[in-house]
Amino acid sequence: MGKILILNGSPRAPKSNSKRYAEIFMRHCTAETDYRNITKKNHEELCAALSGYTDVLFAFPLYADSLPVGFLNFLKALEACPPAHKPVVSILINCGFLEAEQSEVAIRMMRLFCRRNGYVMGSVLMLGSGEAILDTPFKYVATRNIRRLAQSMVSGRYHTLSATMPLSKYLFRLAADIYWTFYGKRFGTTRRQMQTMEVEGK
Ligand SMILES: Cc1cc2nc3c(=O)[nH]c(=O)nc-3n(C[C@H](O)[C@H](O)[C@H](O)COP(=O)(O)O)c2cc1C
Repeated sequence: MGKILILNGSPRAPKSNSKRYAEIFMRHCTAETDYRNITKKNHEELCAALSGYTDVLFAFPLYADSLPVGFLNFLKALEACPPAHKPVVSILINCGFLEAEQSEVAIRMMRLFCRRNGYVMGSVLMLGSGEAILDTPFKYVATRNIRRLAQSMVSGRYHTLSATMPLSKYLFRLAADIYWTFYGKRFGTTRRQMQTMEVEGK
């Protein structure tokens, strides 16, 4: 059986949703699995460490329809310092919006990276409603698909999965609106302020 390294590419890795998803993955994965956050200072170390694994799972969020800049910088480092043995690359991407397919462009970027740098692409899980789903009754949808992701990587029968909350766009927007309005209130920020750039200065 192979050995998997999970690399968390979220800018807020220690407190991230990606970390929570990685924890679920580790609970359901039967292969030996290690977990590391990508930081500004550990690129070289992680690039070298990859040699010891059959698979790497990049867990990261969608940022502006793309990859977070810190994660992009890590990929640049990986391009410059490839490991002696290249693991199969799988991806667990989560995005805030309901539609998991929002992440398709980011996945295409990752496929291009793999093609250009000689990595075999493994499985992909695109999770929509990724900011919210774990704290709702729909957590089981995320867990079930993460378990499938783990099984596909362990068996070597790689495939692409996507999942989200089983809600209509209307209901999702309504729930998000209520959630963020109350959230803003807790920090003295009005709904109107949140609709302007003023919120950036807060
Ligand atoms: C700067 C920024 C840009 C984002 N861009 C998108 C986006 O383009 N589409 C989307 O669906 N969610 C977007 N999100 C939401 C994140 O993908 C979502 O909150 C995710 O759960 C964060 O995961 P993490 O906690 O692992 O970092 C963005 C969040 C931030 C902070």
